[in-house]
Amino acid sequence: MPFDFDTVIDRAASDSRKWRKYAGRDVLPLWIADMDFAAPPAVTAALRARVDCGIFGYGDLTEKLVESFRDYCRRRYRWEVKPEWLFWLPGLVCGLNVTARAYGTPGEEIISCTPIYQHFREAAVNQGQTHKPVPFVRHGARWEIDFDALERTVTSRTRQLTFCSPHNPLGRAFSRAELERVAALCLRHNLILTSDDIHCDLVLDDTPHVPFATLAPEIAARTVTLMAPSKTYNIPGLGCSVAIIPDPELRKRYDRAAAGIVPDVNLLGLVAGEAAWRHGEPWRQALLAYLRGNRDLLQDFVAHELPGVSMTPVEATYLAWLDVSALQLEAPQKFFEQHGVGLLEGAIYGAPRGHFVRLNFGCRRATLAEALARMKRAVAAR
Ligand SMILES: Cc1ncc(COP(=O)(O)O)c(C=O)c1O
Repeated sequence: MPFDFDTVIDRAASDSRKWRKYAGRDVLPLWIADMDFAAPPAVTAALRARVDCGIFGYGDLTEKLVESFRDYCRRRYRWEVKPEWLFWLPGLVCGLNVTARAYGTPGEEIISCTPIYQHFREAAVNQGQTHKPVPFVRHGARWEIDFDALERTVTSRTRQLTFCSPHNPLGRAFSRAELERVAALCLRHNLILTSDDIHCDLVLDDTPHVPFATLAPEIAARTVTLMAPSKTYNIPGLGCSVAIIPDPELRKRYDRAAAGIVPDVNLLGLVAGEAAWRHGEPWRQALLAYLRGNRDLLQDFVAHELPGVSMTPVEATYLAWLDVSALQLEAPQKFFEQHGVGLLEGAIYGAPRGHFVRLNFGCRRATLAEALARMKRAVAAR
Protein backbone atom coordinates (compact mmCIF):
# COMPACT_ATOMS: atom_id res chain seq x y z
CA MET A 1 0.00 0.00 0.00
CA PRO A 2 1.50 3.35 -0.98
CA PHE A 3 1.72 6.00 1.73
CA ASP A 4 1.70 9.70 1.05
CA PHE A 5 4.01 12.01 2.93
CA ASP A 6 3.48 14.99 0.64
CA THR A 7 -0.13 15.81 1.44
CA VAL A 8 -0.54 19.27 2.93
CA ILE A 9 -2.03 18.99 6.41
CA ASP A 10 -2.75 22.39 7.89
CA ARG A 11 -1.34 22.12 11.39
CA ALA A 12 -1.18 25.87 11.92
CA ALA A 13 -4.84 25.95 12.92
CA SER A 14 -4.55 22.84 15.08
CA ASP A 15 -3.35 22.17 18.63
CA SER A 16 0.19 21.46 17.38
CA ARG A 17 2.85 22.88 19.69
CA LYS A 18 5.26 22.88 16.78
CA TRP A 19 3.07 25.12 14.63
CA ARG A 20 1.46 27.28 17.30
CA LYS A 21 4.86 28.61 18.36
CA TYR A 22 4.93 30.78 15.24
CA ALA A 23 1.20 31.43 14.91
CA GLY A 24 0.57 34.51 12.79
CA ARG A 25 4.17 34.65 11.57
CA ASP A 26 5.62 33.34 8.35
CA VAL A 27 8.10 31.01 10.04
CA LEU A 28 8.40 27.37 8.97
CA PRO A 29 8.67 25.36 12.19
CA LEU A 30 11.53 22.84 12.00
CA TRP A 31 12.13 22.68 15.71
CA ILE A 32 10.41 20.30 18.22
CA ALA A 33 10.82 16.60 17.38
CA ASP A 34 7.54 15.64 15.82
CA MET A 35 6.86 15.12 12.14
CA ASP A 36 4.28 16.77 9.91
CA PHE A 37 2.95 13.39 8.73
CA ALA A 38 -0.30 11.69 9.64
CA ALA A 39 0.19 8.55 11.72
CA PRO A 40 0.03 5.15 9.96
CA PRO A 41 -3.53 4.41 8.76
CA ALA A 42 -3.52 1.21 10.87
CA VAL A 43 -2.93 3.32 13.99
CA THR A 44 -5.70 5.77 13.14
CA ALA A 45 -8.09 2.90 12.40
CA ALA A 46 -7.35 1.26 15.77
CA LEU A 47 -7.89 4.56 17.57
CA ARG A 48 -11.13 5.19 15.69
CA ALA A 49 -12.45 1.75 16.62
CA ARG A 50 -11.53 2.32 20.27
CA VAL A 51 -13.13 5.78 20.35
CA ASP A 52 -16.28 4.35 18.80
CA CYS A 53 -16.68 2.13 21.89
CA GLY A 54 -17.54 5.33 23.70
CA ILE A 55 -16.41 4.13 27.13
CA PHE A 56 -13.17 5.47 28.58
CA GLY A 57 -12.87 3.97 32.04
CA TYR A 58 -9.54 3.04 33.59
CA GLY A 59 -7.50 1.02 31.13
CA ASP A 60 -5.44 -2.07 31.68
CA LEU A 61 -2.40 -3.56 30.00
CA THR A 62 -3.80 -6.33 27.87
CA GLU A 63 -1.87 -9.47 26.96
CA LYS A 64 -2.33 -8.45 23.32
CA LEU A 65 -0.49 -5.18 23.90
CA VAL A 66 2.37 -6.77 25.82
CA GLU A 67 2.68 -9.49 23.19
CA SER A 68 2.77 -6.93 20.38
CA PHE A 69 5.73 -5.24 22.07
CA ARG A 70 7.55 -8.49 22.87
CA ASP A 71 7.00 -9.67 19.34
CA TYR A 72 8.41 -6.43 17.97
CA CYS A 73 11.55 -6.76 20.16
CA ARG A 74 11.98 -10.34 18.98
CA ARG A 75 11.47 -9.50 15.32
CA ARG A 76 13.57 -6.37 15.15
CA TYR A 77 16.26 -6.93 17.76
CA ARG A 78 16.23 -10.68 18.42
CA TRP A 79 15.59 -9.67 21.98
CA GLU A 80 13.50 -11.98 24.15
CA VAL A 81 11.87 -9.55 26.57
CA LYS A 82 9.92 -10.94 29.51
CA PRO A 83 6.59 -9.32 30.45
CA GLU A 84 7.74 -8.67 34.01
CA TRP A 85 10.67 -6.57 32.76
CA LEU A 86 8.32 -3.90 31.42
CA PHE A 87 7.43 -0.71 33.23
CA TRP A 88 4.94 1.29 31.17
CA LEU A 89 5.36 5.05 31.20
CA PRO A 90 3.36 8.03 29.95
CA GLY A 91 6.54 9.49 28.42
CA LEU A 92 10.26 9.05 28.29
CA VAL A 93 11.08 12.40 29.88
CA CYS A 94 9.21 10.96 32.82
CA GLY A 95 11.24 7.77 32.38
CA LEU A 96 14.53 9.69 32.52
CA ASN A 97 13.45 11.47 35.69
CA VAL A 98 12.36 8.24 37.38
CA THR A 99 15.69 6.69 36.45
CA ALA A 100 17.62 9.55 38.04
CA ARG A 101 15.49 9.28 41.18
CA ALA A 102 15.74 5.48 41.35
CA TYR A 103 19.48 5.08 41.13
CA GLY A 104 21.03 8.15 42.69
CA THR A 105 20.69 10.48 45.65
CA PRO A 106 21.22 14.24 45.84
CA GLY A 107 24.90 15.08 45.41
CA GLU A 108 25.64 12.03 43.27
CA GLU A 109 26.48 12.22 39.59
CA ILE A 110 25.12 11.20 36.22
CA ILE A 111 27.31 11.31 33.14
CA SER A 112 26.20 11.76 29.52
CA CYS A 113 27.97 12.43 26.26
CA THR A 114 26.99 15.89 25.05
CA PRO A 115 25.39 17.62 23.25
CA ILE A 116 22.32 15.68 24.33
CA TYR A 117 18.54 16.02 24.53
CA GLN A 118 18.12 18.59 27.32
CA HIS A 119 16.02 16.38 29.60
CA PHE A 120 19.03 14.17 30.30
CA ARG A 121 20.63 17.06 32.15
CA GLU A 122 17.36 18.29 33.62
CA ALA A 123 16.49 14.83 35.00
CA ALA A 124 19.70 14.84 37.03
CA VAL A 125 19.24 18.43 38.21
CA ASN A 126 15.58 17.82 39.12
CA GLN A 127 16.75 15.12 41.53
CA GLY A 128 19.47 17.28 43.08
CA GLN A 129 22.19 15.39 41.26
CA THR A 130 25.07 16.69 39.20
CA HIS A 131 25.00 16.16 35.46
CA LYS A 132 28.50 15.74 34.11
CA PRO A 133 28.82 16.34 30.38
CA VAL A 134 31.46 14.63 28.27
CA PRO A 135 31.58 16.35 24.85
CA PHE A 136 31.59 14.27 21.68
CA VAL A 137 34.57 15.03 19.48
CA ARG A 138 34.38 15.57 15.76
CA HIS A 139 36.74 13.39 13.73
CA GLY A 140 36.31 14.39 10.10
CA ALA A 141 32.72 13.71 9.11
CA ARG A 142 31.73 11.98 12.32
CA TRP A 143 31.03 12.77 15.93
CA GLU A 144 32.75 10.25 18.16
CA ILE A 145 32.52 9.31 21.83
CA ASP A 146 35.53 10.54 23.78
CA PHE A 147 36.25 7.39 25.76
CA ASP A 148 39.30 8.80 27.51
CA ALA A 149 37.33 11.80 28.73
CA LEU A 150 34.49 9.51 29.85
CA GLU A 151 36.95 7.46 31.85
CA ARG A 152 38.43 10.57 33.45
CA THR A 153 34.99 11.96 34.35
CA VAL A 154 33.84 9.03 36.49
CA THR A 155 34.29 9.63 40.21
CA SER A 156 33.33 7.75 43.35
CA ARG A 157 30.05 9.72 43.29
CA THR A 158 29.05 8.65 39.76
CA ARG A 159 26.10 6.30 39.78
CA GLN A 160 24.81 6.36 36.24
CA LEU A 161 25.68 6.86 32.63
CA THR A 162 22.71 7.97 30.55
CA PHE A 163 23.07 7.45 26.82
CA CYS A 164 20.95 8.31 23.80
CA SER A 165 21.02 5.65 21.07
CA PRO A 166 20.53 6.65 18.26
CA HIS A 167 21.52 10.10 19.22
CA ASN A 168 19.49 13.29 19.49
CA PRO A 169 20.75 15.81 18.36
CA LEU A 170 23.78 14.38 16.53
CA GLY A 171 21.89 11.85 14.41
CA ARG A 172 24.50 9.18 15.12
CA ALA A 173 23.63 5.48 14.94
CA PHE A 174 26.30 3.81 17.06
CA SER A 175 28.13 0.67 16.00
CA ARG A 176 28.15 -2.45 18.12
CA ALA A 177 31.84 -1.82 18.86
CA GLU A 178 31.12 1.67 20.22
CA LEU A 179 28.26 0.39 22.36
CA GLU A 180 30.43 -2.42 23.69
CA ARG A 181 33.05 0.08 24.83
CA VAL A 182 30.42 2.18 26.60
CA ALA A 183 29.00 -0.93 28.28
CA ALA A 184 32.47 -2.12 29.30
CA LEU A 185 33.12 1.23 30.94
CA CYS A 186 29.88 0.93 32.92
CA LEU A 187 30.84 -2.56 34.04
CA ARG A 188 34.32 -1.46 35.05
CA HIS A 189 32.99 1.41 37.15
CA ASN A 190 29.85 -0.31 38.38
CA LEU A 191 27.55 2.27 36.74
CA ILE A 192 23.92 1.81 35.88
CA LEU A 193 23.44 2.33 32.17
CA THR A 194 20.24 4.03 31.06
CA SER A 195 19.81 3.99 27.32
CA ASP A 196 17.14 6.12 25.69
CA ASP A 197 16.41 4.27 22.44
CA ILE A 198 13.35 6.33 21.45
CA HIS A 199 14.81 6.86 17.95
CA CYS A 200 15.85 3.23 17.42
CA ASP A 201 13.46 2.54 14.55
CA LEU A 202 14.61 5.59 12.64
CA VAL A 203 18.02 4.35 11.52
CA LEU A 204 18.38 5.65 7.97
CA ASP A 205 21.41 3.68 6.85
CA ASP A 206 22.78 0.20 7.32
CA THR A 207 23.99 0.26 10.94
CA PRO A 208 21.65 -2.15 12.72
CA HIS A 209 20.36 -0.80 16.01
CA VAL A 210 21.61 -2.84 18.95
CA PRO A 211 19.95 -2.39 22.35
CA PHE A 212 22.72 -2.39 25.00
CA ALA A 213 20.89 -5.03 27.00
CA THR A 214 21.32 -7.54 24.15
CA LEU A 215 25.11 -7.31 24.26
CA ALA A 216 25.60 -9.67 27.22
CA PRO A 217 23.72 -10.83 30.32
CA GLU A 218 25.99 -8.84 32.63
CA ILE A 219 25.19 -5.68 30.62
CA ALA A 220 21.45 -6.43 30.69
CA ALA A 221 21.71 -6.75 34.48
CA ARG A 222 22.75 -3.08 34.80
CA THR A 223 20.72 -1.56 31.98
CA VAL A 224 17.45 0.31 31.78
CA THR A 225 16.28 0.66 28.16
CA LEU A 226 13.70 3.30 27.29
CA MET A 227 11.62 2.73 24.17
CA ALA A 228 8.46 4.13 22.61
CA PRO A 229 6.52 4.07 19.35
CA SER A 230 6.12 7.83 19.61
CA LYS A 231 8.89 9.20 17.37
CA THR A 232 8.78 6.50 14.69
CA TYR A 233 5.02 6.53 14.17
CA ASN A 234 4.55 10.19 14.99
CA ILE A 235 2.29 9.70 17.99
CA PRO A 236 4.20 11.53 20.79
CA GLY A 237 1.02 13.35 21.82
CA LEU A 238 -0.45 10.00 22.86
CA GLY A 239 2.22 9.35 25.49
CA CYS A 240 2.92 5.64 25.38
CA SER A 241 6.38 4.37 26.29
CA VAL A 242 8.11 1.69 28.25
CA ALA A 243 11.19 1.01 30.37
CA ILE A 244 12.70 -2.44 30.01
CA ILE A 245 14.50 -3.55 33.16
CA PRO A 246 15.69 -7.16 33.21
CA ASP A 247 17.26 -7.06 36.68
CA PRO A 248 14.78 -7.62 39.56
CA GLU A 249 16.65 -5.40 42.01
CA LEU A 250 16.84 -2.49 39.56
CA ARG A 251 13.16 -3.02 38.84
CA LYS A 252 12.27 -2.83 42.49
CA ARG A 253 14.13 0.47 42.81
CA TYR A 254 12.42 1.80 39.69
CA ASP A 255 8.99 0.80 41.06
CA ARG A 256 9.74 2.54 44.34
CA ALA A 257 10.91 5.76 42.65
CA ALA A 258 7.80 5.88 40.46
CA ALA A 259 5.29 4.95 43.16
CA GLY A 260 2.35 7.32 43.33
CA ILE A 261 3.74 9.91 40.93
CA VAL A 262 3.77 8.18 37.55
CA PRO A 263 0.28 7.88 36.09
CA ASP A 264 -0.93 5.04 33.90
CA VAL A 265 -0.49 5.34 30.18
CA ASN A 266 -3.58 6.86 28.57
CA LEU A 267 -5.58 4.02 27.08
CA LEU A 268 -5.58 5.58 23.60
CA GLY A 269 -1.77 5.62 23.78
CA LEU A 270 -1.82 1.89 24.49
CA VAL A 271 -4.16 1.26 21.55
CA ALA A 272 -1.96 3.30 19.23
CA GLY A 273 1.25 1.63 20.46
CA GLU A 274 -0.13 -1.84 19.94
CA ALA A 275 -1.33 -1.04 16.42
CA ALA A 276 2.01 0.58 15.53
CA TRP A 277 4.10 -2.37 16.73
CA ARG A 278 1.75 -4.89 15.18
CA HIS A 279 0.91 -3.29 11.83
CA GLY A 280 3.24 -0.32 11.36
CA GLU A 281 6.15 -1.88 9.49
CA PRO A 282 5.11 -1.13 5.86
CA TRP A 283 4.44 2.50 6.82
CA ARG A 284 7.77 2.72 8.66
CA GLN A 285 9.64 1.45 5.61
CA ALA A 286 7.93 4.07 3.45
CA LEU A 287 8.70 6.74 6.04
CA LEU A 288 12.39 5.80 6.14
CA ALA A 289 12.59 6.05 2.34
CA TYR A 290 11.00 9.52 2.48
CA LEU A 291 13.26 10.67 5.32
CA ARG A 292 16.33 9.44 3.42
CA GLY A 293 15.23 11.62 0.50
CA ASN A 294 14.87 14.62 2.81
CA ARG A 295 18.19 13.90 4.48
CA ASP A 296 19.96 13.66 1.10
CA LEU A 297 18.38 16.89 -0.10
CA LEU A 298 19.44 18.63 3.11
CA GLN A 299 23.01 17.32 3.08
CA ASP A 300 23.48 18.21 -0.55
CA PHE A 301 22.06 21.69 -0.03
CA VAL A 302 24.22 22.36 3.02
CA ALA A 303 27.33 21.18 1.15
CA HIS A 304 26.74 23.29 -1.97
CA GLU A 305 24.36 26.15 -1.23
CA LEU A 306 24.92 27.23 2.36
CA PRO A 307 28.41 28.68 2.76
CA GLY A 308 29.38 28.90 6.43
CA VAL A 309 27.13 25.99 7.41
CA SER A 310 28.29 22.39 7.69
CA MET A 311 26.96 19.12 9.01
CA THR A 312 27.94 15.52 9.55
CA PRO A 313 25.88 12.80 7.84
CA VAL A 314 22.62 12.01 9.59
CA GLU A 315 22.67 8.26 10.22
CA ALA A 316 19.44 8.09 12.20
CA THR A 317 16.53 10.28 13.38
CA TYR A 318 15.00 13.15 11.42
CA LEU A 319 17.17 15.68 13.22
CA ALA A 320 20.21 17.40 11.76
CA TRP A 321 22.92 19.14 13.73
CA LEU A 322 24.16 22.11 11.76
CA ASP A 323 27.45 23.77 12.55
CA VAL A 324 26.90 27.49 11.97
CA SER A 325 29.94 28.69 13.91
CA ALA A 326 31.59 30.09 10.77
CA LEU A 327 28.65 32.52 10.39
CA GLN A 328 29.64 34.10 13.71
CA LEU A 329 26.09 34.76 14.79
CA GLU A 330 25.36 35.70 18.36
CA ALA A 331 21.91 34.13 18.29
CA PRO A 332 21.49 31.79 15.29
CA GLN A 333 17.99 30.63 16.25
CA LYS A 334 16.74 34.21 16.29
CA PHE A 335 18.62 35.00 13.08
CA PHE A 336 16.97 32.17 11.14
CA GLU A 337 13.57 32.89 12.70
CA GLN A 338 13.85 36.44 11.40
CA HIS A 339 14.36 34.88 7.97
CA GLY A 340 11.37 32.57 8.27
CA VAL A 341 12.83 29.30 9.60
CA GLY A 342 12.28 27.99 13.14
CA LEU A 343 15.28 25.98 14.35
CA LEU A 344 16.59 25.25 17.85
CA GLU A 345 19.70 26.82 19.38
CA GLY A 346 22.35 24.16 20.01
CA ALA A 347 23.15 25.55 23.47
CA ILE A 348 19.91 23.92 24.67
CA TYR A 349 21.69 20.61 24.20
CA GLY A 350 24.90 21.71 25.89
CA ALA A 351 26.82 22.99 22.84
CA PRO A 352 28.68 26.31 22.91
CA ARG A 353 26.16 29.13 22.39
CA GLY A 354 25.89 30.34 18.80
CA HIS A 355 27.80 27.44 17.24
CA PHE A 356 25.07 24.95 16.32
CA VAL A 357 21.39 24.71 15.48
CA ARG A 358 19.17 21.64 15.25
CA LEU A 359 16.91 21.23 12.23
CA ASN A 360 13.96 18.80 12.10
CA PHE A 361 13.51 17.47 8.57
CA GLY A 362 10.47 15.34 9.40
CA CYS A 363 8.29 17.46 7.14
CA ARG A 364 7.01 17.59 3.55
CA ARG A 365 9.87 17.79 1.10
CA ALA A 366 8.43 21.00 -0.32
CA THR A 367 8.49 22.55 3.16
CA LEU A 368 12.11 21.53 3.63
CA ALA A 369 13.06 22.92 0.22
CA GLU A 370 11.36 26.23 1.03
CA ALA A 371 13.08 26.40 4.42
CA LEU A 372 16.46 25.76 2.82
CA ALA A 373 15.84 28.45 0.21
CA ARG A 374 15.04 30.88 3.04
CA MET A 375 18.21 29.87 4.89
CA LYS A 376 20.23 30.46 1.74
CA ARG A 377 18.78 33.94 1.38
CA ALA A 378 19.45 34.58 5.07
CA VAL A 379 23.08 33.55 4.81
CA ALA A 380 23.56 35.57 1.63
CA ALA A 381 22.00 38.68 3.19
CA ARG A 382 24.14 38.52 6.30
C1 LIG B 1 16.01 11.19 23.11
C2 LIG B 1 14.63 11.60 23.47
N1 LIG B 1 14.06 11.13 24.58
C3 LIG B 1 12.80 11.47 24.95
C4 LIG B 1 12.06 12.34 24.17
C5 LIG B 1 10.68 12.74 24.60
O1 LIG B 1 10.00 11.66 25.03
P1 LIG B 1 8.48 11.79 25.56
O2 LIG B 1 7.77 12.68 24.60
O3 LIG B 1 8.02 10.36 25.53
O4 LIG B 1 8.56 12.33 26.94
C6 LIG B 1 12.62 12.86 23.01
C7 LIG B 1 11.87 13.83 22.20
O5 LIG B 1 12.38 14.47 21.34
C8 LIG B 1 13.92 12.48 22.64
O6 LIG B 1 14.49 12.93 21.52
